[in-house]
Amino acid sequence: HPIHRRDYRPPEFLIDHVELRFDLDPDRTRVEASLEVRRNPAATRGDGTLRLHGEQLDLEEVAIDGHRLAPAEYRVEPDSLTLQRVPDRFRLDTRVRIHPNLNTALEGLYQSGDMLCTQCEAEGFRRITYFLDRPDVMARYRTTLIADKGRFPVLLSNGNRVEERELVDGRHLVSWEDPFPKPSYLFALIAGDLSAIEDRFTTASGRDVVLQIFVEPHNLDRCDHAMQSLKKAMRWDEERFGREYDLDVYMIVAVSHFNMGAMENKGLNVFNDKFVLARADTATDEDFQGIEGVIAHEYFHNWSGNRITCRDWFQLSLKEGFTVYRDQEFSADVGSRGVKRVADVRLLQAHQFPEDSSPMAHPVRPDSYFEINNFYTATVYNKGAELVRMQATLLGPELFRKATDLYFTRHDGQAVTTDDFVRCMEDVSGRDLMQFRRWYSQAGTPHLHIEAAYDAERATYSLLIRQAIAPTPGEPDKDPLHLPLAIALLDPQGRELALRLEGEPNAGEPGTRILELRDWETRLCFVDVPVRPVPSLLRGFSAPVQPRFDYGDDDLLLLLRHDSDGYSRWNAARILMQRVLSTMIADPEAEVPGRFVEAFRGALTDPETDKALLAEVLTLPSESFLGDQMETVDVDGIHRARNTLREILGERLVEELLSVYRDNADVERYAPTPDAIGRRALKNLALGYLMAAGDARALTLCRAQFAGAGNMTDAIAALRLLVDHGGEDGTSALEAFHRRWSKEPLVIDKWFSVQATSSRAGTLGIVTGLLQHPDFSLRNPNRVRSLVGAFCTANPARFHARDGGGYRFLADRVLELDPLNPQIAARLLKALIRWRRYDAGRQALMRTEIERILAAEELSSDTFEVASKALEDT
Ligand code: ARG
Ligand code: ZN
Repeated sequence: HPIHRRDYRPPEFLIDHVELRFDLDPDRTRVEASLEVRRNPAATRGDGTLRLHGEQLDLEEVAIDGHRLAPAEYRVEPDSLTLQRVPDRFRLDTRVRIHPNLNTALEGLYQSGDMLCTQCEAEGFRRITYFLDRPDVMARYRTTLIADKGRFPVLLSNGNRVEERELVDGRHLVSWEDPFPKPSYLFALIAGDLSAIEDRFTTASGRDVVLQIFVEPHNLDRCDHAMQSLKKAMRWDEERFGREYDLDVYMIVAVSHFNMGAMENKGLNVFNDKFVLARADTATDEDFQGIEGVIAHEYFHNWSGNRITCRDWFQLSLKEGFTVYRDQEFSADVGSRGVKRVADVRLLQAHQFPEDSSPMAHPVRPDSYFEINNFYTATVYNKGAELVRMQATLLGPELFRKATDLYFTRHDGQAVTTDDFVRCMEDVSGRDLMQFRRWYSQAGTPHLHIEAAYDAERATYSLLIRQAIAPTPGEPDKDPLHLPLAIALLDPQGRELALRLEGEPNAGEPGTRILELRDWETRLCFVDVPVRPVPSLLRGFSAPVQPRFDYGDDDLLLLLRHDSDGYSRWNAARILMQRVLSTMIADPEAEVPGRFVEAFRGALTDPETDKALLAEVLTLPSESFLGDQMETVDVDGIHRARNTLREILGERLVEELLSVYRDNADVERYAPTPDAIGRRALKNLALGYLMAAGDARALTLCRAQFAGAGNMTDAIAALRLLVDHGGEDGTSALEAFHRRWSKEPLVIDKWFSVQATSSRAGTLGIVTGLLQHPDFSLRNPNRVRSLVGAFCTANPARFHARDGGGYRFLADRVLELDPLNPQIAARLLKALIRWRRYDAGRQALMRTEIERILAAEELSSDTFEVASKALEDT
């Protein structure tokens, strides 16, 4: 049965204090919990029944105020422990047994390699002990960990260490106390043989904080970047949001088995090691940037998530949307703002827009779910971040900062809603954001159809802007949204005009103007416009919408050359590329227009622009993006056209590409600075076009780059190209790469991914074969993502092979994985959810596989929800 947001009731009981005692053992861990329970004065009084969450717990003992209960005095069900007629205030003691080494779902307490670790968000704590496992129950925790000292010398939990001593039989005990009340999903413990790098940070008010990153000893030499990122993030949050850290110690632990990216447990973040470990020779630029972003994200959660948390899981975007916004702004400030914005928009369009038009479309604040783990989505995270960004735009920087200050003080220590967040925006600005709130409750991506007319005689430029939002499951009728539309008008030389709307006394400075739309239809008229301008629309991607404007090719070339807004330049390039490609998709014989090649040449040799932005601008739209723009996805046509265009550009621009390659082939020491990252990106992009064209000099360069690369970015770029275009060279490069990196799991993930995403015709066979490779395991989520996930989501031409082999492969993996790790199984299955976008033949094949999954016995609620929603009538 689904859970509905409208059914929310405050908890009838609260838990003020929790004392936990763990006797840790991978086979059999004993958990004793002592809870201080009392009635919630703010809740309606029930009959005194207390129902605690608990799953997969072997209950051994229950006592109220020290009196052991007889089995007849409580009821145990698979997901709960119920006590009747409890007092208004009492102590509840329970003792349970759990089995970390059998926990393949990686939720609750589990074994990862030789260590024990936890993941409690969203509802994993109930697999550790009986509890009111919901975020609006906030308690103070004292946690005692007991384990064999030889095997588990390091024992960590939230807060400050308050006790440490040796026990008999080589065991030891460590106690931790967290002074801040927190919901159970923020609980964490770690036991292992770990080493740490340590640093210190002095907060703005002069508090001294110890910073520690714990890893397996052999990984100690790859924690520096994470530590530097953490210190940057701490300083930035003080300066930009006035937020200081609040405990004496901040710990990060890297684990190799982890379902998601990382987790913000109070004072003890647990990370997928992919987002901690980096050394120039093992991690790519993208990895370095990912680490900086995720370290910052989890740190920022200390305020946006931990000090102030969510009332219920429907409010997930309260913490995730806001925290993603915060990490995006951090990365923009410490790197290049324009490039970061393009990357964020690309991500939103690649993941959130498709989700928003799929059978799993949901509002940023969903109304119902079967399984909350299915709702850690691009909509909740990335569209949620866009909603915060729009509010920042509507208020302006000063008021927005006042509003976040108000939010952090008003709600400190509380579990609140997205509505409470918006109310802070309203209260400081005096603005009415009632209509804006629809962004939280309504699913679907709005389309903005924009038409313009220039009247030379009257010197006016008028715009007609229409919103349209297609129905989504359960929401047939939509309402218009309130949104900021950032716009500039460029003259034929590409200079920004000063703008004056009809009725305004005078024109402002030349530059961007924020217009606010509220209605299905908006008409605007700019006056004193001396020439027919080219509009630069939705600058900075000011709202998460799909704009449609009938630009002439010349207009787009002007934007591409002159627009000061990075998003707009990138978008202009992409529309141009898409136009060329759609002609080629429709007609395999179509010529590539000469002026398109010239524009590409112009951008390639542009000395002024940031190289990272140029690399974004010159990257062809992905096959998935192109498919998203079509009525019915033409899998093979897209693949063919895109390859042909790459080849043609590589041939026609061979000299320019070679000199871009040479000019950016760094010999200096590796550094993940924005400038160096940009140069490598551009260089490897150039090499890609050259290799696509089959250029002999390129093959020589590529071989040399692979053999001599001093960093993983260059090594993997060359490997990828050798595998796709180098024939025998690809095979031997793969062997050499595996030999060199066989002891490095994160690098071996890349080795799997390169093969899974290769455009080679036999890729499915190779991927199927790799399932049997000794390095492959269904029990490690990173490995599953690197092979199965990569094939199904990043290789459309092979995954969507006409014979349905890719679909069958995916369904087989989902069925194998579901009993082991439902979260990962359900996530993989999402690759089939948009089956209706394909031709009838593929539709039938996909449908068959989804039905086969649904027919399986004992499907997890995660996989069941995705499969059944995929087939629901729309
Ligand atoms: N709160 C974490 C983050 O975004 C994500 C954890 C999600 N875990 C899950 N099992 N759904 O930083
Ligand atoms: Zn988060």
